[in-house]
Amino acid sequence: MTFHYQDSYLHAEQVSLQHIASAHGTPSFVYSRYLIEAAFDQLDRAFANRPHQICYAVKANSNLAILGILARCGAGFDIVSGGELARVVAAGCDPRRIIFSGVGKQVWEIDQALTAGIGCFNVESRSELDKLAERAAAHGTIAPVSIRVNPDVDPGTHPYISTGLKENKFGVNAVEALALYRLAADHPSLEVIGLDCHIGSQISDIQPFEDALLRLLPLVDQLTREHISLEHLDLGGGLGVTYQNEAALDPVAYAQMVDKHLGDRELTIMLEPGRSLVANAGILLTRVITIKENENRHFAVADAAMNDLIRPALYQSWQDVKPISEVATVKPQHFDIVGPICETGDFLAKSRELSLTEGDLIAIFSSGAYGFVMSSNYNSRPRAAEILVDGDQAVVIRERESLSDLWRGETTLPPEGD
Ligand code: LLP
Repeated sequence: MTFHYQDSYLHAEQVSLQHIASAHGTPSFVYSRYLIEAAFDQLDRAFANRPHQICYAVKANSNLAILGILARCGAGFDIVSGGELARVVAAGCDPRRIIFSGVGKQVWEIDQALTAGIGCFNVESRSELDKLAERAAAHGTIAPVSIRVNPDVDPGTHPYISTGLKENKFGVNAVEALALYRLAADHPSLEVIGLDCHIGSQISDIQPFEDALLRLLPLVDQLTREHISLEHLDLGGGLGVTYQNEAALDPVAYAQMVDKHLGDRELTIMLEPGRSLVANAGILLTRVITIKENENRHFAVADAAMNDLIRPALYQSWQDVKPISEVATVKPQHFDIVGPICETGDFLAKSRELSLTEGDLIAIFSSGAYGFVMSSNYNSRPRAAEILVDGDQAVVIRERESLSDLWRGETTLPPEGD
């Protein structure tokens, strides 16, 4: 049950997107519960013959309802901020299933995570390890620790989203990691439980994951020899999806590769997927406000803009655009789909052959990951609504922001004294 046409209209599961637009307005993000659960199940089943835990990377889509769906599937959560921790807790999920990644954890965030009793801190530097040990001691508790190793592999993805090269800011090299493990193992307020890496995002090929794993295993074995035993090996996220014609990373091939190299090492495999669980479970529903032509270029100005979906502008990413009504009323032309924001970088898609007139509804596909979460109020545009479809039901899971939401927390100047 994907996004599909039925009676000439695009549907999410059994609900017409035309109906959603009339009931809830545009722009709106629309997610399919079925597709999220299906993506989770596919990955979960692929790793079924090893102990494993999928920790959904909250950054991809942090709506409380989405977190709730994944928690019910059995997911844990990979967080990178105190805000994400608060969201996971607010969604009613178990903090013991949280792992805390990120290169710049602040003391208040470490304290918050220690108090919540999260499952693991993925530590990225000596400085962080010291801070964590000090805070755990102050709390009279023992912090569970994994060291993020930077395996120095090129994931062959967009430079902004590749993280596993030695010149990136992430993790530590294997030599430094060993030193940190020795320190952690000797510290009374730290307990070594894992080893992790994350090499980048939107990776379609197994090879970089294999390269990374092969660089981590000697360290795992060295730690075993030193009686620093690990419970889990966390391979991060990064599983690529199909936006245009890229092959999606095959979870079964991935799991087989991991299985082959792990052999009889008794480690729980942890994964931190974000995009692959939610990207293709969501669309951005938007209405064409204006059609115009400049110098033979056709523009469809939509009511969604780069503040709603920044991926095309920021990464030159390609996301599919489809009309909500299949019935073409005018002859197709090549359109740039742009927003109303005062920047030339404000585009959602370029040169797409579509039959469009003013007032038409269109869907920007693959918007479930890194869509709403990266949205902003630029140009004082209220952020879009988020809607979850489950079978024949559509529920608002985040209200559209109102105009007064735009200045919540701001103050006007006091009246001028005379
Ligand atoms: N774990 C860590 C430590 C990460 O930094 C990330 C993503 C993930 C897991 C999840 O990766 P995924 O499975 O979603 O690829 N805004 C960009 C993507 C940035 C990814 C940042 N880190 C985009 O829209 O393409």
